[in-house]
Amino acid sequence: MKATLERIHREALAALEAAQTEAEVEHLRLRFLGRKGELTEAVRGLREVPPDERPAIGAYLNRIKDEVERRIAESLTALRQAERARRVAAERIDVTLPGSHHVPGHLHLITQTLEEMVDIFIGLGFSVAQGPDIEDDYHNFTALNVPRNHPARDMQDTLFITDEYLLRTHTSPVQIRVMEQQQPPLRVIAPGACYRHDDDVTHSPMFHQVEGFMVDRHVTFGDLKGVLTLALRRIFGSGTPLRFRASFFPFTEPSAEVDIGCVLCGQRDPHCRICKGSGWLEVLGSGMIDPNVFQAVGYDPEAVSGFAFGLAVERVAMLKHQISDIRLFFSNHVRFLQQF
Ligand code: PHE
Repeated sequence: MKATLERIHREALAALEAAQTEAEVEHLRLRFLGRKGELTEAVRGLREVPPDERPAIGAYLNRIKDEVERRIAESLTALRQAERARRVAAERIDVTLPGSHHVPGHLHLITQTLEEMVDIFIGLGFSVAQGPDIEDDYHNFTALNVPRNHPARDMQDTLFITDEYLLRTHTSPVQIRVMEQQQPPLRVIAPGACYRHDDDVTHSPMFHQVEGFMVDRHVTFGDLKGVLTLALRRIFGSGTPLRFRASFFPFTEPSAEVDIGCVLCGQRDPHCRICKGSGWLEVLGSGMIDPNVFQAVGYDPEAVSGFAFGLAVERVAMLKHQISDIRLFFSNHVRFLQQF
């Protein structure tokens, strides 16, 4: 009996030593201490031990049972701790690692510039109107005092769709569409795309304008100067030098183009590559709305007067950000677009 107990003792300690998991330890508990466990059976076997040896064997057996129980408890605690430590280590987050991030897109520089310009005119009391990109000959030309076969049609290289329909060459037809629908007083801007058969560093076949006009009983050239001076200084900065230069448009009389002082050389470099030494850069066309235009929309030219202007959005963006090639806007190179 003593030899059997010694074997069980050795085996139990060795098996517990080797156990790697809680399940294995539980299994050993059953094997040695369960209802049919080896030590449980040994307790039953005590009956067969001669009475004089029984106290010593019994005491030894109790020591083994105590020891095995203690070892099982210790082993379970150790295994649970190790398991917890493993889990914590696995869940550890390194807060110093660079995060994964998405670069959000943003509005195209032309859209940004256009919205900025629109906001400025809204601030001056203008409302916003829109017209179709595909126009008829009448609204793009005839109603704007450019009859068929008039030489002024050559001022803009038109992309015709049919004899009657074309891609609008400017936003001025929206003037006609608004005045056909509404009565003065009017203060309206019309931002949008325009199209011309043109393609070089400063001309794109598709570009944008912000058209603007004001019609009331006594609108004067002074109003034109005042509104455009305010708007252009908000766009280009309050100290920007401005020059109103006499010009010609069929739909305005008198007409003026407006130049701003060169944004690159500050009007100081006789060899400046942008202003070519002139010190001035043209940014818009404008003028007092021609009586023939009022007649075309059914207004009485004796009773109302107004001014109109057309501002080139790409030109504004190019001057503000010193971009030298208009085609960069539409070639969609992300590294160009991301700068703005
Ligand atoms: N429509 C003209 C252009 O595209 C600009 C302009 C608009 C001029 C309104 C005068 C009045 O060149």
